[in-house]
Amino acid sequence: MLPRSICLAARGKHRYFPSSTNRKPDMSKQKAPTDNTPHDNANDNAKVQALEPFREDGTDQLLTTNQGLPINDNQNSLKAGPRGPSLLEDFILREKITHFDHERIPERIVHARGAAAHGYFQAYASAAAFSRAKFLQDPSVQTPVFVRFSTVAGSRGSTDLARDVRGFAVKFYTEEGNFDLVGNNMPVFFIQDAIKFPDLVHAVKPEPHNEIPQAASAHDTFWDFISLMPESMHMIMWVMSDRAIPRSYRMMEGFGVHTFRLIDAQGVSRFVKFHWKPLLGIHSVLWDEAQKISGKDADFHRRDLWEAIEAGGFPEWELGIQVVEEKDEHKFDFDLLDPTKLIPEELVPVQRIGKLTLDRNPDNFFAETEQVAFHPGHIVPGIDFSSDPLLQGRLFSYTDTQLSRLGSPNFHEIPINRPIAPLHNNQRDGHMRQTINKGRVSYEPNSIGGGCPMQAKADWGGFVSYAERIDAHKVRARSASFFDHYTQARLFYISQSATEQDHVVQALRFELSMVKIREVRERMLVHLTQIDTGLASKVAEGLGMKIPNKLDKPLNMSIPADGDVEAHQPKPVNLKVNPSPALSMANTPKEGIKTRKIAVLAADGVDGADLSAMQQALEKEGAQAFVIAPHMGSITAENGEAIEADFSLLTAASVMFDAVYVPGGAESVTALTQEANAIHFVNEAYKHCKAIAATGAGVDLLQASYVAQHPTLAKQNGKTSDNEGIIIGQTDKNITTDFIQAIAQHRHWSRETKAKIPA
Ligand code: HEM
Repeated sequence: MLPRSICLAARGKHRYFPSSTNRKPDMSKQKAPTDNTPHDNANDNAKVQALEPFREDGTDQLLTTNQGLPINDNQNSLKAGPRGPSLLEDFILREKITHFDHERIPERIVHARGAAAHGYFQAYASAAAFSRAKFLQDPSVQTPVFVRFSTVAGSRGSTDLARDVRGFAVKFYTEEGNFDLVGNNMPVFFIQDAIKFPDLVHAVKPEPHNEIPQAASAHDTFWDFISLMPESMHMIMWVMSDRAIPRSYRMMEGFGVHTFRLIDAQGVSRFVKFHWKPLLGIHSVLWDEAQKISGKDADFHRRDLWEAIEAGGFPEWELGIQVVEEKDEHKFDFDLLDPTKLIPEELVPVQRIGKLTLDRNPDNFFAETEQVAFHPGHIVPGIDFSSDPLLQGRLFSYTDTQLSRLGSPNFHEIPINRPIAPLHNNQRDGHMRQTINKGRVSYEPNSIGGGCPMQAKADWGGFVSYAERIDAHKVRARSASFFDHYTQARLFYISQSATEQDHVVQALRFELSMVKIREVRERMLVHLTQIDTGLASKVAEGLGMKIPNKLDKPLNMSIPADGDVEAHQPKPVNLKVNPSPALSMANTPKEGIKTRKIAVLAADGVDGADLSAMQQALEKEGAQAFVIAPHMGSITAENGEAIEADFSLLTAASVMFDAVYVPGGAESVTALTQEANAIHFVNEAYKHCKAIAATGAGVDLLQASYVAQHPTLAKQNGKTSDNEGIIIGQTDKNITTDFIQAIAQHRHWSRETKAKIPA
């Protein structure tokens, strides 16, 4: 009998020993730890440990079939002679090919492209005043979570940097069962009623006749639909803003979107909106960058999340709640049940009640990230639903869709989906059932099984739905309190900084310029006029169109039971709405540069002292500095020191970094000045308003680029820094401090309007 675990390979050297080798196997180890396991088990939480029995690791193991039979030859199929036909008998070939043929499952209908990580949630203090949910009671308890971020419209292989909403789905593995907060990075949604969701998704997905365009809303069918759906206008403002092109998943907010309920131990219900506030602040890229990143690194967000966690820069968000007492349900100008509305933070402050930390990457993308199944209907005692008609429809949709995507009602048995809370019920059998239920009883009530598993009283933790009183006619209708579609769209727009507003204008010009049907563009201009006349006329100018005086009605084709179509048209905008500063990314905290990526442009002859002083200063602040050289391998510094390049100018581009530094060293700078890619690198960084620093001769590279026209640089060549993110001089403390402060600002928008850069 062969031992099951024998050491065949020298670990870490990736050496390959064909089965014909005469090398004697080292039988001393049963199962060695792998070199490439990125995690130690020190901080594994309960869910991560629960996944352990399902993990497989082939290191130091023999190759086997799925039945555990060791395979002697994985290179050749069984044939009638070396040149003869393959034999049907070859069960090893058949098993391998059959499994391969069935490797794919359908991608998600929406949110197909995503990335995920494990972590934990910890409450800051007991939230008992609002909710009886156990995971919100004890600040010493760490609740395991699995969080998946996603884009909505694109397929699994599409770019991360599409202009789109981002999904922000959190699965809490609580002691009372799984709670899924399946939200987005925008606090509102396109539609008010679930019955419109298939229409919305059909409109935004690639057009059905030619499957174009991929992962983009800039096409006729999307804007045709939107232009007929005034309820979408608030969401359109968000999607046309830079929120739709985040710098990183780690730097975006999350929202539960719908109004939910929190239920306390006395059964008192309060309305709640959930928020995730990123501790790194909220930051985005520019549309020009997003398009370029999509070509240079379509995995930009996925890679960013993975690398940050591997490097120990664990992303963190605070969980915030806006709580509204039941008695205040109707005190707002909008309806709390309308998912196209937010509650301005200035009206109801966000209380931060705990922190989410992501500290471990998945071991296997398919097993975890692809097979995880979220559902807004997965809730725990202490949390309940409101009657938001979009939420109500979602409560049906998610289990239903898992049945076709994951293919079985037993998808909850997939390791990543299993709760850590014990699970006992009388559901049985089905495709790929894994649980071996013991005993004769699979029904309730029963006496044979002693009545077990038995129902849980509320004070044993049993879930009791909130007893909302409903006294109504059964109607297919929408509440008139949902008809103000423009005021909050305006609220968003007027709350943005001048730069942010300009980006909304540019995005609308871009998207609507891609729309071929003139009437669709016209309809959109009329909607924009309702939101803000300045916005509408700027967009119209970009489109080279006049704004029509009025819209052809009716919009939003619902035919009210009373037949009064006009009464169901959108209400006029409330021009008196006050701005909400909390809605502007310009007001996000800009305190540090943790996990920011800084490009250092260098060639042979670089001033090594300059380079390492800056590198150390940046790394001390938690940023990462990467050396980018004309070629891979090492470059030789002025002092003879060898410096390893992280990227070559061929593989790296400014759009993949947050800032650029050019160290001194005359020979290095002369070489870089002759590299078109190096000049382009600096030009692009300047165009995208990123911090740029140069020391000593490094300034010459800036002089050779468009940055030469920057006022500070044009004036003097000595030590200087300005408040526009251009820092030049010697590597002394001030330069590094100024550079760090400039990077923390994320972007220096004042440069944007001045610079007409050919990059
Ligand atoms: C009636 C409206 C909606 C319907 C019918 C719907 C349906 C779906 C479906 C079918 C999926 C794919 C699920 C899967 O295969 O695992 C999905 C995913 C998702 N939906 Fe919705 N959705 C709706 C509205 C929303 C809204 C308003 C939000 C945000 C609050 C949202 C957030 C998400 C997220 C984050 C995912 C991805 C979950 C993951 O990462 O696996 N959806 N939705």
